[in-house]
Amino acid sequence: MPSMLLHVLCLLLLVSPSLSQDDAPLGVPQQIQLEKDFSAQRLSVRWHCDHGSVFDIEIYRTEFMDIVFNETVELGAGRKAGACYWNWSSAVPLECTSHSVRIRSRDRLRVSDWSGLQTTEGNDMPDNTEAQMYPQDRVVLAGSNTTFCCILGEGQVLQEIRYKTAVLQEARVSRRSYVVTQTLQPPSNYSGTNVFCVAENISTLGNGAVIFVGYPPGDEDLTCETQDLVSAVCQWREGRSTHLAGRRGTRYTLNGRNCKISAGARLCSWKQWEGNWTLIAKNPLGIKELSDSAPLSHRVYPVAPRSVKVLVRSARNATLQWSWLYPGYETFPLTCQVNVASNGVAVTHNYSGAGLSLVSLENLWPYETYRVRVRCGAQNSFWKWGDWSKEISFQTKMDRPETPDMWIWMGSDNSGLVLWKPLSQRERHGELVGYEVGQGSASGGGTQSVGVPAGQHSTALSLQDNSSQPFVTLLARNAEWASDSSRLMVPKYWADVDVTGSEISSREGGFDVSWLASANASHGYVVEWFDTSCGQYCSVDWLKVPEGTTSARIESSDLLAGVRYTISVYGLSDDPPQLLDRRHGYLEEMVPAEPVPSLEASQYESSVSLYWQEAPLRSQRGFVRGYNIYLANVSKYTLLANITDPSVRNYTIKKLGLGTYKFTVRAYTSAGEDGGSTVSIKLEPYSDLLLFEMLVSLAAMSGFLILVTALCYRKRQWVKKAFYPEIPEPKLPGQWSTSQATLDVKPSPHSVVHIVENPQWDSSKEGLVPVSEEDEDVDDSASESADTDSDEPGLLRYYNQVVGDGGQALRLPADSSSSSVGSADTDVTYTGIQTSPCTLEAPAPLETQAAGGYRPQVHATQHPQQQQQPEQQEQRADDQPEAADPSPASFGGYKPQCTWRPHSPDGNCSVGSPTSVNSSQFLIPDVSSEDSRNAGSSTSWIPSFLSGKP
Ligand SMILES: *[C@@H]1O[C@H](CO)[C@@H](O)[C@H](O)[C@H]1NC(C)=O
Ligand SMILES: *[C@@H]1O[C@H](CO)[C@@H](O)[C@H](O)[C@H]1NC(C)=O
Ligand SMILES: *[C@@H]1O[C@H](CO)[C@@H](O)[C@H](O)[C@H]1NC(C)=O
Ligand SMILES: *[C@@H]1O[C@H](CO)[C@@H](O)[C@H](O)[C@H]1NC(C)=O
Ligand SMILES: *[C@@H]1O[C@H](CO)[C@@H](O)[C@H](O)[C@H]1NC(C)=O
Repeated sequence: MPSMLLHVLCLLLLVSPSLSQDDAPLGVPQQIQLEKDFSAQRLSVRWHCDHGSVFDIEIYRTEFMDIVFNETVELGAGRKAGACYWNWSSAVPLECTSHSVRIRSRDRLRVSDWSGLQTTEGNDMPDNTEAQMYPQDRVVLAGSNTTFCCILGEGQVLQEIRYKTAVLQEARVSRRSYVVTQTLQPPSNYSGTNVFCVAENISTLGNGAVIFVGYPPGDEDLTCETQDLVSAVCQWREGRSTHLAGRRGTRYTLNGRNCKISAGARLCSWKQWEGNWTLIAKNPLGIKELSDSAPLSHRVYPVAPRSVKVLVRSARNATLQWSWLYPGYETFPLTCQVNVASNGVAVTHNYSGAGLSLVSLENLWPYETYRVRVRCGAQNSFWKWGDWSKEISFQTKMDRPETPDMWIWMGSDNSGLVLWKPLSQRERHGELVGYEVGQGSASGGGTQSVGVPAGQHSTALSLQDNSSQPFVTLLARNAEWASDSSRLMVPKYWADVDVTGSEISSREGGFDVSWLASANASHGYVVEWFDTSCGQYCSVDWLKVPEGTTSARIESSDLLAGVRYTISVYGLSDDPPQLLDRRHGYLEEMVPAEPVPSLEASQYESSVSLYWQEAPLRSQRGFVRGYNIYLANVSKYTLLANITDPSVRNYTIKKLGLGTYKFTVRAYTSAGEDGGSTVSIKLEPYSDLLLFEMLVSLAAMSGFLILVTALCYRKRQWVKKAFYPEIPEPKLPGQWSTSQATLDVKPSPHSVVHIVENPQWDSSKEGLVPVSEEDEDVDDSASESADTDSDEPGLLRYYNQVVGDGGQALRLPADSSSSSVGSADTDVTYTGIQTSPCTLEAPAPLETQAAGGYRPQVHATQHPQQQQQPEQQEQRADDQPEAADPSPASFGGYKPQCTWRPHSPDGNCSVGSPTSVNSSQFLIPDVSSEDSRNAGSSTSWIPSFLSGKP
C-alpha cells in the first residue's frame, strides 16, 4: 500500500510539468477546520486552498446524514494566503446536534474530489446524557422566527414541546434531538417567554428555555433644564417599551457619562450646565441617540419660593415675603404669580422683578381670611412656571362697617317700622356687634339712640307728632368700628295711593321700573315693593337708586308668582321721601285660586240674572280681566258671554224656556280662567206676561173710554139738550102716578138692554141715531135726525154700526116692542146706550163702562123671549126715581142704573152676572117721539148728573 502511494506520488510529480495549467487536476480542499459560535449560531469553516475560489459545500446533520446545506459558493474576500474562510448561519442552534462538512473545488466544468467529512459534535452525544434545550435566554426582535431544539435525556421519549402554552410541531434531527420553530414572535413580558420540552413519564416539567422578545430603545424628547441656575437635569420620555428589563434593559449615557435612572423618571443630571447634550440609549436589540441644545438662561425652571410670610397686615393691604433656596435667584429676573383665595374665590396677581421676593397685596376685604401661594418663572426667555410655594393663610384687620341701607315704612297712626338690610359678611368688616337706631327732629332737640342686636333688622318707630320733621339714623357696629350713620327723614304715611294706577308687567322674573325724574330727588330714589294683599306690616323690600337714574330692575328670589306687588318709587331729598309713582304688578299671573264667591241667580219672567262678587285679592293671583259666563250642560260648557269689564258683576240671560239651568261664572286673568262657580236655577212658569197683556188691554180700553167721556163732556150741553131737555117736573102726587104709569123701566132679569123699537124706524133704517144738537127742538122729526146722524161723533156711529150688525135683535116681536115703545116714555128711553154694569163680561169691549164723570145709562140686553115681564118692570119702575136718585150720589155723581130683578136668583145686580152672558150687542133704543115724551121724567136726576150734583 505505501509503495502504491509512492507510485502515484511519483507519477504526479512526473506528469505535472508536462501538463498545462488547465489540465492540472483540481486540488481537493485540505485541512478543513470547523469553529462554532453558539450564540450567533454560526459555523466558521476554514480550509487550505491553493487557487480557485469556487467550492461546493455540503453540510449534514451527522447522525441522520440529513443534508442541510448544498450549495456552490464563491469566496470573495474569504481567502488569504492559501487559507479559505466561509461562515454558515444555522437556523437550528449548533448545540442541537453534530454537523459534518465536506468541500470540493470547482473550476468551470471540472470539480475536484470531495474532501473528507469534517464533523463538529453537538450536545446530544451519548456521553452527555442530560436533557437540554437551546437556545437559552436568547433576546430577539419582536416578529422574528426562532428555532428551538430539545435534547431529551437518555432513555426519554418526547411528549410535546410548548411555546408558552401552544404546542408546536416538532421535527427530529437526531436520536435524542427534536427542533421546533416559533414564527412571528410577539413581545414577551419582562420575565421572558418560556418554552418547555415535556418528556413522557416525567413528572417534572422537564427542561425548558426562556426567550426574550422585545424592541430596540424608543426614547425621545430629551430636554435639559436647571433649577439652581448651575446644574442640569435632563429628561426624556421612554417612548415605545422595549419589553426588556434588567440585564437586557436599556442603558443610557449622557454626554458619554453613564446615567443611573430610577424606575419611573427618565432623567439624568449633571452638576454643570453644558450647552449640548447627547443621550445614547442602548439595549441588546439596538441603540437610539437623542440630543438637546440650549443656553442655561433659557431653561430655568424655578424652585418653589420658601418661607412665605405676611409682613405687614392692615384691613385692606398686606405684604407678602419669601426667600429663595439658591443664591443665583437673587439677581435673576423673575416674574411671579400670587394666588389669593378667599371664600372659595381665587384671584391671581402677577409681579415681576430681579430676585423678586416681596410683593404687596392690595384691595383686600377687611376681616377676611386669605390663602396665598406663589410661583415664579424666568422673566426673560420664559421656560416654564416653577412649583407653587406652600400655601399660607392670614386674616386682614377689621374696618368700619358699611353704612346700612335703611328704609322707613310708615303706618297710618304715626307709627312705623325702621327697616334695614342685614350687612353681609363682606359688609360687616368685622364681627358685627349690633346696630344703633337714633331718632331726632330736624327742628331741634337731641337724638335718642337705642341699640339693636346684630340679628335684628327692623325696629318699631313711634312718633309723638309728625310735624316736627322727625328723622331716623342708623349705624352698625363691629367689634372695633362703627359705621357711618345712615339718616332718613320720616316719610309721611302714604296709604295705598295709586299715583299712576297703572299695571306693571314683569319681564324675565323681575320688574323693570322706570319713572319720571323728579327735581326734588336730590339724594336719589327708593323703589319699594311689597305684597299688596299682606296687610300693613308685611315684608317690605326696597332698592336705592342713585340720583339721575330713573329706572331700576326688581329681581329677587323672594318674588312669587301669583302675588300682587305694590311697587312704589320715592324721591329722596333732605325732606321726607315723596311718593312719585306707584304701580301694581304680578311676577307671573296665574289663574284665580278660587272661583267667584256668592254667585246667585234670580228669575225674572223668562230671564235669569246672575250676580256674583269679586274674589279676595289674594285669591285673584292675577289681574282679573273679565268673566266668562257658561251654560253648563251635563257634557259641556257653552260660552254665553265674555264680560271683558271686570267691574261688571252681573249678567242676564234672556228668553229661556222652562227647565233647570246651570250657569258657571269664571273669572279669568291673563293666565286663564278659574275653576268656576256654578249656580243652578229652575225656571218656573210665569204669569206675568198674561197679566201684562191684560193690563195693557185694560189700559187701552180705559184710555178709549176716557176719550169718549171727554168727548161727551165737551158736548155735555148738547147731550143734555139731546137727551135730557128741561122738562118741568110734575109736582103733584097725582101726576106722579100718571107719569108713573107711562114710565117704562123694564129691568129684565137677564138682560139690561132696553130695546126701544120704533116700527117706522125699523123699516126705514136699521140703527138708532141719537138726536143731534140741531134736532133737539124737533124731537119728532126722525128723518132729520137720521140725516144728521152722519155728522155725529164716530163713537155714536160705531154704535149704530154695531146695532146695525145685530139687526136681528132689532126685529123684536111686536108685543115686546110695543111694551118697549111704551117704556120709551120713561127716563130710560133717552139713553143712547143702555148698558148695565152687570154686563162687563160680555164679549163686546164696548160694554165696558167708562169710569169718571159720565157713564151712559145702559141696560143689559135681553133676549127677546126674556123680555116678557114688562109688567113687573113697570111695577118696579114706579119706585125707580126714588131708588135711582140716591145711587148717583153714592157713586160720586153718577151711578149706572142697575136693573135689579126681584126674581133673579141673586136678587141683585152683580158684575159678571150670568144675565148678560147671552147678550151679544147693544141695542140702542130709537129716539122716538115717545122717547121725547118720556124724557121729561128723567130730568129729575140727569141734569144733576151732568151738572155734577145729585
Ligand atoms: C447537491 O446539489 C446538487 C446540485 O443541485 C445535486 O446534484 C446533488 O445531488 C446534491 N447532493 C445531495 C447530497 O443531495
Ligand atoms: C419567519 O417565518 C415566516 C413564516 O415561515 C416567514 O414568512 C418569515 O419570512 C420568517 N421571518 C424571518 C425573519 O425569517
Ligand atoms: C454645541 O454644538 C454646536 C454645534 O452642534 C456648537 O456650535 C456649539 O459650540 C456647541 N456648544 C457647546 C457648549 O459645546
Ligand atoms: C394700602 O395700599 C394703598 C395703595 O398702595 C395705600 O394707598 C393705602 O394707604 C394702604 N393702606 C394701608 C392701611 O396700608
Ligand atoms: C274673553 O275675552 C278675552 C279678551 O278678549 C279673551 O282673552 C278670552 O280668551 C275670552 N274668553 C273666551 C272663553 O273666549
